[in-house]
Amino acid sequence: MDRIRIIGGERLAGTIPISGAKNAALPLMIASLLTRETLTLKNVPRLADVTLLGRILGNHGVDITVVGKKAGQATSDGQTFKLKAAEIVDTTAPYEMVSRMRASFWVLAPILARCGEAKISLPGGCAIGTRPVDMHLTTLEALGAEIELEGGYVNAKAPKGLTGGKVTLSKVSVGATHNAMMAAVLARGDTLIENAAREPEVADVANCLKKMGAKIDGIGTSTLRVQGVDQLRGAEHAVLPDRIETGTYAMAAAITGGEVFLKGARADLLERTLDLLRSSGVEIEDTPSGLRVARNGGGLGPVVVDTEPFPGFPTDLQAQLTALMCMAQGTSTVRETIFENRFMHVQELARLGARIELKGDTAMVTGVAGLTGAQVMATDLRASVSLIIAGLAAQGETVIGRVYHLDRGFERIEEKLRHCGARIERVSG
Ligand code: UD1
Repeated sequence: MDRIRIIGGERLAGTIPISGAKNAALPLMIASLLTRETLTLKNVPRLADVTLLGRILGNHGVDITVVGKKAGQATSDGQTFKLKAAEIVDTTAPYEMVSRMRASFWVLAPILARCGEAKISLPGGCAIGTRPVDMHLTTLEALGAEIELEGGYVNAKAPKGLTGGKVTLSKVSVGATHNAMMAAVLARGDTLIENAAREPEVADVANCLKKMGAKIDGIGTSTLRVQGVDQLRGAEHAVLPDRIETGTYAMAAAITGGEVFLKGARADLLERTLDLLRSSGVEIEDTPSGLRVARNGGGLGPVVVDTEPFPGFPTDLQAQLTALMCMAQGTSTVRETIFENRFMHVQELARLGARIELKGDTAMVTGVAGLTGAQVMATDLRASVSLIIAGLAAQGETVIGRVYHLDRGFERIEEKLRHCGARIERVSG
């Protein structure tokens, strides 16, 4: 099993290209199930989750062609996928597939909308809390689907097609919003989705669906109005830049007292995070082609923050911020409100010398003068990258095990960091 080895203490300096967002690329790929025609997606990141979803969609009959790199095109430009679901050949998604990636459960709505039936295994995914799917199911019921749970599978049926309705999400959920939108676009009549997630990735998918002929109003707000259409057509869409990757590299630069240019990053996708970093003493300059992030000499101040749905501070950056605050002067309070059990990085950070006290959903992080390298274990996607951030600042050698978590969501991370002067390598076996 691969490990990542870091010799900490180097200041990051250079340019890091920001990839397409994983959390937009996955549902965009799933949206290809909604039409017989070709959906062309540009700026698709090279990630294990993308490859796995490609295989899952292939089982359902989606033909995926990866367009070759053109002369002069950099690897950082992302991939172009052509996805064509001329026929859906299988309406079942088996446990072996869905248990490996939670987002693949989201094929439920488009397959049901297009075929009138779907049998999808209940999901697995990162071990960060119970992560139920109740809202996905009540949403589909509100649009006329009959749902049964049997043997770990969701059996959904709508033999006469879905019908528009009112969906009120009891809690803000990214996945349930994707699900509601993808069901509603092909339903008969109008659907109102209240308390919808406002995450930029949801808006990106909605904009792509519009290019495919869907009628959606209120994109980017918590009230979405969808007017169902008979069918969707092919379209071309570029995946928006990854705000979580952006925030992660900004924090990596900050912890090393470095200066990086995050090429292609967009400030409007993570304003609260940037404000928080600025309040801690990080310099951030927004330019038309990306973000310049620096901490030149000054110390880091502590922060008080709760994770929240967009536009609040994202749960997907909580572990990274916790790592950064290990080196701040003073005590920070980081409260996790979205997922329980999302503090598994804390005991690993403690192995590097961090002082973190956990009280229920809150981590009290008291900065230390320095971290020291150690052997640690990645427990989930975002936790694993927080260990890299801490390892970059720690004196000596840090070795991170179970890095397959990292490969699910961060494209060529060692290469991007090495390019900025980090001493980081992947060790096989
Ligand atoms: C997505 C993101 C993930 C991010 C999360 C929150 C993708 C591929 N993943 O995950 O990276 O951390 O949003 O921003 O985009 N919930 C229920 N019932 C449901 C569905 C969700 O109670 O039916 C709860 C969850 O347990 C959680 C909260 O709602 O407490 C938010 O989860 P949700 O937004 O659905 O997360 P995902 O869509 O799975």
